[in-house]
Amino acid sequence: MRTPFIAGNWKMHKTVSEAITLAEALRTSLADVTGVDLAVGPTATALYAVNRVLSGSNIAVAAQNMHWEEQGAFTGEISPLMVLELAQYVILGHSERRQYFGETDETVNRKLKSALSHSLSPIVCIGENLEQNRAGETVSFVTKQIHGAFAGISAAEARKVTLAYEPIWAIGTGLTATPEDANRIIRTAIRDVLAELYDEQTAETIRVQYGGSVKPHNMAAFIVMPEIDGALVGGASLKADSFTAIVKNALAAL
Ligand code: PGA
Repeated sequence: MRTPFIAGNWKMHKTVSEAITLAEALRTSLADVTGVDLAVGPTATALYAVNRVLSGSNIAVAAQNMHWEEQGAFTGEISPLMVLELAQYVILGHSERRQYFGETDETVNRKLKSALSHSLSPIVCIGENLEQNRAGETVSFVTKQIHGAFAGISAAEARKVTLAYEPIWAIGTGLTATPEDANRIIRTAIRDVLAELYDEQTAETIRVQYGGSVKPHNMAAFIVMPEIDGALVGGASLKADSFTAIVKNALAAL
């Protein structure tokens, strides 16, 4: 039985003081929530402060990216050792990083290996763009991303990974995949592929979130799908009331 997992991706939003205010509000509004793993992903500059606010709470902290090396001449990057002091999770391969910052399946794979070897819990994002979706290439493209991300990773390590299936055309657009379509893609392009790469048990252990315009009103329809274990939430995670409503609506539907 997979524990549901709902994470907020704050992207490039919130100054440190704004991030503290949001984290404090969530700490209170989600205090009585059990039965679901929770995380928020502030920008690197706010990780320290948010980690302090949420320490001892039921909300974990996620970094939005990291380099694979522990240290070195990599201006502007943060290393797994730095993340480890401030967060439990790290989001890797978000489509915005792939699209705007040159992230590839190969760099995602290097980062994933590094995160796992540093005992960080990775959330690896995958998903097709609109053209690929329209051309019927979703399954082949997502399958390729899975193969790329997990290259050289053992089954035992793979089980520690969370995947976020985020159709790029649904991110920040107000469009969502239908819950049925997302469920089908997660089955055929993710779990069946993981079962082939590893084994059935590994495929059934790995948690898969849906991401892309998740809001309070549509969370329930996704979480009741058998293959969907939670959500990676962007825009609607920036306000305490909407993220709280997403979490509570998910729990009420389970
Ligand atoms: P969104 O973002 O909820 O604003 O669509 C999701 C994501 O990019 O993780």
